Order: sequence, then C-alpha cells, then structure tokens
Amino acid sequence: MKPEEIERMRDEALAAFAAAGDLDALQEAKVAHTGGTSPLALANREIGALPPHAKAAAGKLVGQARGAVNKAFGARQAELEAERDARVLVEEAVDVTLPYDRVPAGARHPLTTMMERVADVFVSMGYEIAEGPEVEAEWFNFDALNFTPDHPARQMQDTFFVEGPTGDHGESGVVLRTHTSPVQARAMLDREPPVYVVCPGRVFRTDELDATHTPVFHQIELLAVDEGLTMADLKGTLDHMVQSLFGADMKTRLRPNYFPFTEPSAEMDMLCYVCKGESVGNPDRPCRTCSSEGWIELGGCGMVNPRVLVACGVDPEKYSGFAFGFGIERMLMFRHNVEDMRDMVEGDVRFTRPFGMEI
Ligand code: PHE
Repeated sequence: MKPEEIERMRDEALAAFAAAGDLDALQEAKVAHTGGTSPLALANREIGALPPHAKAAAGKLVGQARGAVNKAFGARQAELEAERDARVLVEEAVDVTLPYDRVPAGARHPLTTMMERVADVFVSMGYEIAEGPEVEAEWFNFDALNFTPDHPARQMQDTFFVEGPTGDHGESGVVLRTHTSPVQARAMLDREPPVYVVCPGRVFRTDELDATHTPVFHQIELLAVDEGLTMADLKGTLDHMVQSLFGADMKTRLRPNYFPFTEPSAEMDMLCYVCKGESVGNPDRPCRTCSSEGWIELGGCGMVNPRVLVACGVDPEKYSGFAFGFGIERMLMFRHNVEDMRDMVEGDVRFTRPFGMEI
C-alpha cells in the first residue's frame, strides 16, 4: 500500500467535492469517494490482510486520508447549503410592503340570493315573476283580499299608513304593503287566467327591530289560477319547492289555519332538513334547528278564496287557485343558523362574507 496511492485517492476525493456544484452532485461524489466500494474503503479493508508490522503505518495513512476526505465533505456541504439558503431567500422573497387589495369585490346580500334561489325554483316550472309597489293602495293590500273593514291587521299597530286610514266615505288609504299578497290581486287583474306567478318582494310591519323581528322584511308569494286546481296541486308544489331547496327526501305538512284571502287556509311546515324528524321523542339526538319538533314552520297557504277571485275579475265557477307566502328572513335564519335577524339588516360584511361572493 503506497502512500502516493492513498494520497491520490484523497486528492481525487477532494477535487470531486470541490467540483460539485450543488448538494445533489456533492452527494454523488460522497458515495463515489467514501462509500463501501470507494477506493479508500477498499484500501481500508486491505489493511486487515497486511502483515502485522505494516498494519499500524497503513492504518494511520488511510485513517488520515479518510479523515481529510470527511472534513472536506463537511466543509463543502456547509458551503453549498449556505449558497442554497442565500438563493432561496432572494428567489422566494415576499415584499411585505406591497399594498394588498383592501377593497374586495362586492356581492349580493344573502337575502337577495336566497329570494332569487326560491324564485328560480318556480321560474323553472314555468311561473312568471310578478312585482307590485311597496307603497300600495289599501284596497289591494286588504279589501281585494277579503279583509273586512274592521279586520285587526289593518290597525295602526301592524300597518304603516302613508295616507288614511279609510275615512267615512269608504275611500282607500295608502299603506306600505304588509305582505306580498296584494301582488296576487294585481297579477289576476293584469292577465287572463291561467295565471302562474311568483312574487318576491319587500314588506313592512310596525315591529320593533329585535332578534326575531324587523319592520322591513322580505316575502315570496306564489299564485296559481287555472281550471281544476286543488289542494293536491298546492301540496305537490310545496313539496317540490322544499325538495329543490333542501334535498330530495324533504316533504311538507299542512295544519289548518285562517287567512281572509284563502279558503281553506293552512299553515305549512317543512320537515326539519337537519334531523328529518328523528329528534322527536329522542332525547339522545336533540336538534337545534327545529328544537326537536321535527318540523319547521314556513308560512301560510291555501286555496284562493272565491271572493278574491271575484274581486279580481276571475270566474270562480270556472277557475280555482292556490297561493302561499313565507318570509325569506326566517328561511335564511334556519337554513344558515342565523340567530339574530339584526345581522341581516346592519350591513356588516363580517356577516355577509361567509355566504360567499355570488354576484
Ligand atoms: N300573506 C300571508 C302572510 O303574510 C301569507 C299567505 C300568503 C297566506 C298566501 C296564504 C296565502 O302571513
């Protein structure tokens, strides 16, 4: 084992490390010059076969060479790592002083998108959107809808009167509409039956703003007038609506109620879309959305009262109709677990932003 040979092996290793331009190349050079089949490793293995007197000198020679190679490797590795770190710092630098987009794109309010989503269900069934004024004749808001002159809903405590109330001479006052039902009357007077309209809109009642009331809110109203319509058509339409909005296994139920403009009238509930009724009588599975009732109250409905058909120029002997209406705020509340209605009117983007940016 000649010293020059060992030195040559060492020098070749040092040269290879110096020539390695990056950490991958350095790793390859390391395997070639210090790995199990490298010349120095083979030389190291040969020491064992030498005669005893030669072992010490050869061991020292090879050991020093290997020590020098390992040291050179460590130094080159540190150098290349420092170079890489410096390069990453430059290449991946972020300029934290750049201004970001402080004014995010606006989006429609979740109440608007909710209302349009409901209206779209009916538009896709062939219904037409109908609208009416928010400042409405008392006649459309009440008289045409079979509210008697002394009906309590007309009173100041419910209704914002713009003019009126109706004086001794029977003239109609002017109100902020208290529901979207006057659009039913306008739709029937505007067109010949059959009538299929959906009426989204803003309505007003003299309620204080609190967690569950707002004096300005939104309703969506449906009216169908045709030959031979029955309560079964109403029920099927309601079921289709909740299935479109809440899922294919949804359904509705009707409970008897009274409205002057429908006869018979019903309160409509939809199956709780969260527990599907399974929380009822099941204390192990309470449901916050329906308070473990299994059903969520949606709004009012019924068969259009023949007196309303007559007031709106429709022959009740030939035609029948069904109608329903419900509040959008309430639907948004239970569909999205909104606990305070005030969040919907205060215009704070921290409330609206999680609903997404539907334009
Ligand atoms: N207009 C009623 C309300 O505001 C709801 C309703 C609409 C009831 C249509 C029956 C038919 O409460």
